[in-house]
This record gives sequence, C-alpha cells and structure tokens, in this order.
Amino acid sequence: MSKKVSAMLAALLSFAVVLGGCGTENLEVKVTPGNSPETSEKTPEDTANQQEVVEEKVDVTQEIVTEQVVTTEETTVLTEEVTQEVVTEQTEKPETEAPVTEKVTEPPVVTETQAPQEQQTEVFYEQEVEPTYINGILVVNKTYPLPESYAPGELTSDTYSAFKKMAADAYAEGLNLWVQSGYRSYSLQKDLYNRYVASDGQAAADTYSARPGHSEHQSGLAFDLNSISDSFADTAEGQWVAENCHKYGFIVRYPKSKEHITGYKYEPWHLRYLGVETATAVYESGLCLEEYLGITSEYSY
Ligand code: DAL
Ligand code: ZN
Repeated sequence: MSKKVSAMLAALLSFAVVLGGCGTENLEVKVTPGNSPETSEKTPEDTANQQEVVEEKVDVTQEIVTEQVVTTEETTVLTEEVTQEVVTEQTEKPETEAPVTEKVTEPPVVTETQAPQEQQTEVFYEQEVEPTYINGILVVNKTYPLPESYAPGELTSDTYSAFKKMAADAYAEGLNLWVQSGYRSYSLQKDLYNRYVASDGQAAADTYSARPGHSEHQSGLAFDLNSISDSFADTAEGQWVAENCHKYGFIVRYPKSKEHITGYKYEPWHLRYLGVETATAVYESGLCLEEYLGITSEYSY
C-alpha cells in the first residue's frame, strides 16, 4: 500500500470515530432524585412486582406487631400470678412466725451446719395415737400426745369466749391482757421444737417446749398471755391472772415448784381452759393438773 492510500484510510477512520461519539450522547439515561435507574423506566410487570414486595413487607410487619402484643400479654399474666403468690406468702407469714416466742430471752439460731431437722422429729412419731380424755378432760402432756391430724385450727369458741370475758374484766381494772400465742398446729410445733433443739439441745428444749403432738396449743384449749417471760409473774397482769383466771375457766398449767410433775418449767403465761367448775377445783386443790388427775407426764421415747 502506498503512503497516499494509507493517509486516506487514516482520515476515513477518524471521521467514523467522531460519528460514534454523537451516538453515545443520545443514549444517556436521565436519573432523578429518589429513583434508581432501574425504577425510572418501569414496565407494568415491574410495578406489579413492586407492589407484591411492598405488601409482603406490610404483612411481615403486622405479624411482628401481633407477636409482640401476645408476648406482652403473656408476660403480664405471668407477672400477676407471681405477684399473687408473693402476696399470699406475705399474708401467711405473720401467722406462722408470730408464735416463735416461747423463749424470748434467747431466740434460737439455726445454722446450716446443724443436723437436718426432719431427722430430729421423725423418730418421735412412728405410731398413730388417739386423743386421751380423763374424767372428760382432754389431756395433752408428755405422756399423752395428740395425733398429727388433730387440728381445730384456732382456739375453741369456749376458750376464746372465756378469754374475752376475762380480758374485759381485767381491762375494767386497768389491766391489759392479750393472746401472745394461741392455737399451734402439729407442724408449727414441730418447727418450733426443732429450732429449740438446734439452739439449746434436746434435754434443755424438753424443759420448756413440747415435742410435736404433745403441746396443749394444738388442742385449741391453751394460749400464752402477754409476755412470754418469767417477769410476767411479777406484773400486775400476771398477779391478777394467777389469782383470778380460774373464775373464767382457766388454770396456770405449769405452776412453780411442779416442774418435776408437769415436765415443764414454770410458765406463768400459759393458761389451759378446763371450764369454771374444774378450773376452780384444780385451783383450790393447790395441785397441778397431773396431780389432780393422778397421771404422769413423761416421754416414752
Ligand atoms: N411451752 C409449752 C410446754 C408448749 O410448748 O406447749
Ligand atoms: Zn404455751
């Protein structure tokens, strides 16, 4: 190829390139804010697909919202149930703790290193027992226990009525009497006794606390007045009770100097209801109930 021919071919090629650049300008895509190049030129099919996508998004959102509502409701219900349980425990608590005052001077302390409490009392109750009545009097002491099932649940109506009458008469003389510890279930007595055993040892506990089934408190016929302390005997209330309680049907159940017969130390605060006639007879005899009935008060185990 001659130089002339080559020059002509080069000129032709340059012209063609210029024409190609004008074609690129005509194919430019307009992009407006918010629209992607893909959505700026939609076909009807594209629009339909787009709506499906949007609807799916809405559905998913609704499902999530629904689930959240259900979850919230469930949480609320659970919270209410727990709250009710706690309230029940709280209302029951004072009832079970109040009587823990049989020995005020040295509150029992239970530590985790002590022997399991269950073991301490399970040995006591291997046989079913029946309540014992002597001369029509329900006897509850170390010899004569009550069955675990004996559970009046509160002081008997006769006992409580007599107490109210006595308290009213005492009040008229400027004295205040109140029930410090009334009815106690078998299981509450078991807890109390076990605490005292853990604290003071069984021999000492047996001088002031009844083993489960052996407490008069379980009968609903006995209660502790005011202060469970030896000093109660020296108060105006204690002296008035000692002199007058038989008129309302009560005896001071564990008198001074009768420890070896009743099996318990002097408890000026513990009254037992017998009815006016029997209580007055016991009071005037100067005997404790065991002596009056000619019975013992001793554990056989
Ligand atoms: N304190 C008396 C003896 C009782 O525990 O019933
Ligand atoms: Zn008592």
